Amino acid sequence: MELSEAIKTRRSIRKFKDIPVPKEVLEEVIELALWAPSNYNMQGWYFVVVQGEKKDRIIAAMARHAETWVTNVKNLFPEKMVKIIQEFFATMGGAPVIIFVYTDKTEQLLEYMPLDMEPGYPSACAAIQNLLLAAHDRGLGACWVAACCIIEDEINEILGIEEVRNKVMVAGIPLGYPDQRPPAPPRQGNKVQWLGFE
Ligand SMILES: Cc1cc2nc3c(=O)[nH]c(=O)nc-3n(C[C@H](O)[C@H](O)[C@H](O)COP(=O)(O)O)c2cc1C
Repeated sequence: MELSEAIKTRRSIRKFKDIPVPKEVLEEVIELALWAPSNYNMQGWYFVVVQGEKKDRIIAAMARHAETWVTNVKNLFPEKMVKIIQEFFATMGGAPVIIFVYTDKTEQLLEYMPLDMEPGYPSACAAIQNLLLAAHDRGLGACWVAACCIIEDEINEILGIEEVRNKVMVAGIPLGYPDQRPPAPPRQGNKVQWLGFE
């Protein structure tokens, strides 16, 4: 797919077909994520790709917290939309795979990087965008879900791996073959200012 087309046609997918994603395809997508730019070239990202029993336990945990999550957002959206948000949070759209993205905790470097966040956080976000585009290019759908972070400790407990203990979760990304074709949200105006141009 041509890059401009991929950028414009990528959508957040929240409903997936019950079809497994081949590991080789996931490897390609992750490999492209790893080519993102990063703060001081620290490559401060970390990916955990989960399917099977642990993924199912994570979704069950999300379902237990869906009600709480919805109380956080219910004043922002109409009731119908709140229902959709709750349902998606509780099921992850039936995704066969979830990729959790973390960043390193490197607080001691903050004096060299005046950011109000972990220095690797924006780099992990750049890697996520690469990942979403690479997935879309291969006919996969995915959704960047920051809301997973509200149960980060519980998810880490289920993952049961040492590597994420000193990291910060940036997002969960349910991924699979899309079972919906959402329309593109229109672009908002007044987002760019040109200085020194005719
Ligand atoms: C930082 C970030 C966090 C997001 N978190 C969530 C989330 O928790 N749940 C969700 O359903 N979508 C989430 N999204 C997806 C947005 O809702 C989505 O990108 C937006 O509605 C635009 O739709 P599009 O991706 O199809 O263009 C997130 C996107 C970003 C960039």
